[in-house]
Amino acid sequence: MKRSEGMKLSPAPDIVVGVKVLVTGGTGYIGSHTCLRLVEEGHEVVVVDNVSNSSIESIKRVSQLTDTHIDVLEGDVRSKTRIDAVIAETSPEAVIHFAGLKSVAESVRFPDKYYETNLGGTLNVARAALQGNVAVVLFSSSATVYGESASMPVDEGAATEPTNPYGRSKLYAESVLRDLNAANPALSVGVLRYFNPVGAHPSGVIGEDPRGTPANLMPYVARVAAGTYPELSVYGDDYSTADGTGIRDYIHVMDLADAHVKVMEYKAENSGFETWNVGRGSGVSVLEMVSRFQEVTGKSVPTKIVPRRAGDVAVSFANVSRIARDIGWSAKYELDDMVADLWHWQSQNPEGYE
Ligand code: NAD
Ligand code: UFG
Repeated sequence: MKRSEGMKLSPAPDIVVGVKVLVTGGTGYIGSHTCLRLVEEGHEVVVVDNVSNSSIESIKRVSQLTDTHIDVLEGDVRSKTRIDAVIAETSPEAVIHFAGLKSVAESVRFPDKYYETNLGGTLNVARAALQGNVAVVLFSSSATVYGESASMPVDEGAATEPTNPYGRSKLYAESVLRDLNAANPALSVGVLRYFNPVGAHPSGVIGEDPRGTPANLMPYVARVAAGTYPELSVYGDDYSTADGTGIRDYIHVMDLADAHVKVMEYKAENSGFETWNVGRGSGVSVLEMVSRFQEVTGKSVPTKIVPRRAGDVAVSFANVSRIARDIGWSAKYELDDMVADLWHWQSQNPEGYE
């Protein structure tokens, strides 16, 4: 399925099996779950990661779960030389590019780091992919590329006006990929704009292991339930929403992982540059998430209302009709699965991977 062999332009893709996929950032949260789904679907996976926000233990566990050895190469996407060498060594047919930084707050303090890794890193990966005759590149983008003004549910045609350097680094990286595709149409590019991934593999063997104090809602909730922290700070109850707290589109990480496999298989058969929202298409408030978590797990999560967090939007949820129409993919897991699987992982791995 190298580019030189040509790709079919078919709206109904054949079954695509045995694709060799290089996964950048594959030891991280979404990357590790996607590696598992790729292997389950018969694809061959190699990971490159600098392990700056992850542990190689995640991929060891994916190897155990799938009974398949997965090579993990040390490499930093900021190094063009290293990424060129990794692509030359591994000759992948597809690249799924997860490696990046993801904290909105940190991006405001260190915007240069975010442009260097998320924008510069994507340019390095894309150029190496072109040079290595890779057929498909998928890119991890974010709902953050839509700004405050987007009306909900937001579709892919909405204006992109990110309000922070993290969101801009993702949007500019999308533009780099769009332009490279326009100049090199045989390189098939898929951009996935994720909403809010939560949960873990139902086995509880792999999951999200944030370093330090979690910045995101659900890992924090799980640690309050586990007794690590006494209570959850709810960032504002004065938004114009039913209960006053922020609304997001939470999606089970296994659904998100599955979307990557389906999109990659589709892009192997379809050229061009395409963008898809990946969410469930329904908005859930902070207090609703806490209440589901308490009901499903039987654990108590005390909360206190604190002022809004700077940079937060009130409501963000996806219109998911494009990915359903083009790929035939939609989310399968419910909120209760997300919280049950998150708790399963947390209670089995109180110290994460360490
Ligand atoms: P993560 O931090 O768990 O995974 C990112 C991986 O990239 C880690 O393994 C990290 O070690 C690696 N990495 C970071 N910098 C690197 C570099 N310079 N060179 C090589 N590897 C590097 O995060 P995640 O939640 O799995 O997110 C994966 C991708 O999805 C990121 O690009 C993130 O911006 C994007 N994204 C995440 C979310 C979310 O809520 N988790 C939402 C939207 C988009
Ligand atoms: N929240 C709290 N207390 C907390 C943490 C979060 O009340 O301790 C609230 C937030 O104010 C927000 C909601 O919970 O209303 C969700 O917040 P998260 O931090 O979990 O997620 P965000 O929507 O802010 O951002 C996440 C990722 C970004 C990604 C974005 C869209 O952190 O990287 O989803 O995909 F880009």
